[in-house]
Amino acid sequence: MALVALGVTGGIGAYKSVDVARRLQQVGHDVTAVMTAAACRFVGPLTFEAITRRPVITDQFAPGANADIEHISLASRIALLIVAPATANVIGKLANGIADDFLSSMYLATRAPVLIAPAMNSNMLEHPSVQRNLARLSEQGVRFVEPGEGYLACGWTGKGRLAEPAEIVAASRQLLSPDGRLVGRTLLVTAGPTCEDLDPVRYLGNRSTGRMGFAVAAEALARGARVRLVVGPTPLEPPAGAEVTRVRSAREMHQAVLECAEGADAVVMAAAVADYAPADGARPGKIRKGSGALTMRFERTPDILSELGRRRAGAALPVLVGFAAETQDLVQRARDKLREKQVDLVVANDVSLPDRGFAADTNAATLVTAEGEEDVPLGTKRALAAVLLDRMETLIHAPVAS
Ligand code: C5P
Repeated sequence: MALVALGVTGGIGAYKSVDVARRLQQVGHDVTAVMTAAACRFVGPLTFEAITRRPVITDQFAPGANADIEHISLASRIALLIVAPATANVIGKLANGIADDFLSSMYLATRAPVLIAPAMNSNMLEHPSVQRNLARLSEQGVRFVEPGEGYLACGWTGKGRLAEPAEIVAASRQLLSPDGRLVGRTLLVTAGPTCEDLDPVRYLGNRSTGRMGFAVAAEALARGARVRLVVGPTPLEPPAGAEVTRVRSAREMHQAVLECAEGADAVVMAAAVADYAPADGARPGKIRKGSGALTMRFERTPDILSELGRRRAGAALPVLVGFAAETQDLVQRARDKLREKQVDLVVANDVSLPDRGFAADTNAATLVTAEGEEDVPLGTKRALAAVLLDRMETLIHAPVAS
């Protein structure tokens, strides 16, 4: 079966983690326990060693464990990393790329799926910092087993108790043998803004960060798809495993998308593509300021999605998905786009509210198809991506009408 790393951090739920290790082993997995210093104060490493019949890792710099840089070596061999219980502190470290012990270093080094079971006091769980860190991890593709409600060790009653070991093991089973609903399929996703250079110094851009497109790409990868990602300028890292083409302008994105769409089963245009670019291209020298107004002429950029819609001309594939970032008449405008661009689905996104759309970690949207509308409530962008891909899978797998 699989090699699983079980990260144990310093919460009272650490004792339940022994049962997680035992259950994983019962179904045939090899388990290596990785304990933080705080975890060792709650449960003795010997307990995990006896259960897993493997040395327990408690120290990044333990003599004898560095011959093959153990955190990298283990990171590349495991099929799954589980962190149960995950304290607010460790969640914060993982979400922010801090690598000051074995577990947090291994999190950065591994490309295996990661499953986190948070456990903490309910006020800590609800704190905006913790919620932001959880959302960030979710964006990175981490899966969660939600904490349960009930009596907490601190004497409170509320949400925050470590999920039951059986639940954690059930969730890990899904990640160890993914359903692979998109295995053998290729998705092209665009993400981020485009920048239209005005001169060597200035450009016309927009507020897109690429988060939504990256969430779609990460979710498609998790479902086994091959993912081509065409990305406009953004400082964010695309998900590991995607084949990335970087572009700057709408014109470059147009060219890259047409090339990458070849043989794709679906195209998701999540990028915010500029509608206008300077008519004669960027000025070669810096535009000097004068005393009066500045006038520049802009021309329309090619509408990439419309072109894909025209090229597909009635065929079932590729499934085409557009995004409609609007500030008013959301659904009506999305419906117009669905028709005008000849696409299968438009994700209508209200970008006038602070907790959705550009740069936010969360999003809410209405999925508009020829059949009707579906509201997806506010949640992480990854959660919206999961609903979107569920709907797209139905279209991708739909039998071709004869
Ligand atoms: O027409 P509008 O720009 O509002 O449509 C938005 C959708 O069309 C998005 O999916 C965006 O990626 C795509 N688009 C495009 N080419 C453009 C402009 C937008 O493919 N030039």
